[in-house]
Amino acid sequence: MVRRPLWLLAALPWLAASDLPVFDVGGDWGRLGDLAGGRMREYHTTSPTTARLRSMLRNENVSAALDGLLAWHSAAFPRFAQELQAMAQGAGLGYRDLAAYSFKNELLAVFAEQAPDSEREACSDVLVHDQQSHVHGHNEDGEEQLANFSYIVRTDDFEAMVYPGALAGGAFGFNRHGLVVTMNALSPRSAIIKAGCAGKYWLGRAVLEAESIQQAIGILERFCHAYGMSLNVGSVVTKEQVNIEVAPGGGVSVWNVSGGSYFHANAYLHMNVTEDPHLSPSSAHREARARQLLPAVGRDGVLRVLGDTQDKHWPIYRTLGNGDYSVTLATALFDYDRLRVDIWAGSNPRLAQPLLTRWLLEPPPMEGLGALVV
Ligand SMILES: *[C@@H]1O[C@H](CO)[C@@H](O)[C@H](O)[C@H]1NC(C)=O
Ligand SMILES: *[C@@H]1O[C@H](CO)[C@@H](O)[C@H](O)[C@H]1NC(C)=O
Ligand SMILES: *[C@@H]1O[C@H](CO)[C@@H](O)[C@H](O)[C@H]1NC(C)=O
Ligand SMILES: *[C@@H]1O[C@H](CO)[C@@H](O)[C@H](O)[C@H]1NC(C)=O
Repeated sequence: MVRRPLWLLAALPWLAASDLPVFDVGGDWGRLGDLAGGRMREYHTTSPTTARLRSMLRNENVSAALDGLLAWHSAAFPRFAQELQAMAQGAGLGYRDLAAYSFKNELLAVFAEQAPDSEREACSDVLVHDQQSHVHGHNEDGEEQLANFSYIVRTDDFEAMVYPGALAGGAFGFNRHGLVVTMNALSPRSAIIKAGCAGKYWLGRAVLEAESIQQAIGILERFCHAYGMSLNVGSVVTKEQVNIEVAPGGGVSVWNVSGGSYFHANAYLHMNVTEDPHLSPSSAHREARARQLLPAVGRDGVLRVLGDTQDKHWPIYRTLGNGDYSVTLATALFDYDRLRVDIWAGSNPRLAQPLLTRWLLEPPPMEGLGALVV
């Protein structure tokens, strides 16, 4: 019997309103270039961020820094470099352009006068670990231009929301070992561009392959970090959830979430790291509002926080129009007990039905997913 779950039928009306397709690539990243090439090309020719990177790269020093980053990362992470190469080729884009995008945080931090806030004040997470439930929700925030160009990549090893032309692991995802990984941007004052220090998105891609929380921590401890970030990592197998803060250089701090709920936005919470001044108060406002709403209980509690719009200018669920410069592109609600993740894109998760649902541990047979898998 072909499995055709009810949630799929329920999700269909939402497909027209928003857009976050699932591209199945197996292990073939050239195929992603074919499938998502239009999105990659359109994004990379219209986004202010990629325009900024291109213009920065006209400076010989920036260009030399990118060459150095690429040389070291291609040797340290040859498979990920090949993924980028295959994607670029399939999409008809320059490898160097996609590579520059994969180092955008480091390049902007070192060479731009002020990194755009949409690159730095992005994403909120709510983790709940208590007697009743193990739930983890994530708002993926970013540049408005990313809205209709991002996608979910399904490989043999993992599924992840990916920005056009980017490495997987920089947004949210889960792998076949039952590991859930979501990322929040942080903006440490220092960034280290030199051989031996791994870029944020390359580390995120590596962590997406970890088989356990301990392995994820091990990967972060093994490398010098070019920049900083916050990773929320959970295991649907052991139900553990941690927040990991990463600082430039060697710093890694692990916060074990157990017996309650936890909120993380875009400021360091358990590590003493000097940050660049926040240009906008978005992260601070989201944290303040979350403090009022916590503790969160269960799935509904998480959605109540992630869908909150009480703060008119700097809400947790973000839309343009009242001063904010980023939008909530998607929301993922990982339910470690029911082994599924509900995903919304272009709609408030407190008010709308999810756009799609994926199984966290055992992928159902492909035919059961019908038209959702391209
Ligand atoms: C490159 O860096 C050198 C050394 O810091 C500096 O003298 C030079 O002006 C820079 N070149 C450009 C184009 O910025
Ligand atoms: C994305 O596409 C939808 C449907 O075509 C459209 O309504 C929406 O305005 C687009 N969003 C952006 C940010 O362009
Ligand atoms: C988190 O804390 C729980 C309860 O104390 C413990 O059993 C678990 O091993 C810890 N996990 C990590 C990754 O530190
Ligand atoms: C954080 O680091 C700064 C600079 O190293 C130091 O002055 C300050 O006391 C530290 N704060 C905490 C809470 O450890």
